[in-house]
Amino acid sequence: MKFQHYAVLAIAALSCSNTQFGVVNAQTPTAAPSATASGSATSDRTGESSVVVFGRGVSALGDFSNVNGGDDNIADGDYAVIAGGKLNFADRTFSTISGGEDNFIAGRKFDPSALPPTECTISGGNSNFIVSTGEDSVITGGIGNSVCFGRDNRDTNCSGCTISGGQGITCDAIEAVRTGGVGVGNFNRVSSGDRSVATGGRDNGSGGKNAVIVGGKNNIADGTLSIALGTQVQANTESSMVINLNPDGKKSLKSKKAGQFIANAESYSFQIGQNNDDLSIQITEDNIQNLIDALENAAAS
Ligand SMILES: *[C@@H]1O[C@H](CO)[C@@H](O)[C@H](O)[C@H]1NC(C)=O
Ligand SMILES: *[C@@H]1O[C@H](CO)[C@@H](O)[C@H](O)[C@H]1NC(C)=O
Repeated sequence: MKFQHYAVLAIAALSCSNTQFGVVNAQTPTAAPSATASGSATSDRTGESSVVVFGRGVSALGDFSNVNGGDDNIADGDYAVIAGGKLNFADRTFSTISGGEDNFIAGRKFDPSALPPTECTISGGNSNFIVSTGEDSVITGGIGNSVCFGRDNRDTNCSGCTISGGQGITCDAIEAVRTGGVGVGNFNRVSSGDRSVATGGRDNGSGGKNAVIVGGKNNIADGTLSIALGTQVQANTESSMVINLNPDGKKSLKSKKAGQFIANAESYSFQIGQNNDDLSIQITEDNIQNLIDALENAAAS
């Protein structure tokens, strides 16, 4: 063992694994290294050039991996890091879990047929999951969020997904973003729009490429480049924008043609400058008929 290249301070019973340069640091004698949950009686708590610092039931079996304490944390991926928390599992190359509980970055050992996945991060939260083909994805907190979970992991490419907070949110697309909000029902909902964004709300997902859902509830943006705002919106056609501020709880407001803009509200106000009623116009149910009549008369004449 050559320690001169490694700054290691052993506080209690220092033990070394039988692999090259693996270090288990600062264990109390009763928590000294032993075979771990990896299932192999001959395996130790560290891989090559890996470090385990404190912790209980923790192991850094990936080469060059690092577990900084916590409880039952396992860094099986090469270059994986777990910085604490409990029951976290980082089985992907270059994966990082910064804490939280029950978070999984699962790769080859979890699904041996999966492609080697890399460079994922979960920064806390509870029961968050990044599987197989969610390369380069990030989940920052939240509960029960997942990248590519419940999809056919070998076929669906979910690389570069971001989920921030929220609950039960799925990101099943390339370079898509889901921030906050709550997922609907189960993990299988299709939200396959590559490079789409859904922020907050309780929505059914964005299946359109480069589409956007801005908060709200029960909104769908399935059209490519579509935008959905409000509630019960279905922006299903390409480049459509649908705004519904007037929910009836039963019917959805749908786009029917590409490039369509639909807005539904109780009333519309257009105003120039603030606090200047002289320069404002309000369209309501009462006066809209006048406008329709005027347009019809103009068309007829
Ligand atoms: C997934 O998609 C990304 C972005 O298009 C691409 O760079 C990457 O190679 C793809 N991965 C696989 C396994 O096809
Ligand atoms: C959204 O999904 C839920 C659950 O599948 C369903 O009950 C609801 O009708 C959907 N809403 C829309 C607008 O499709």
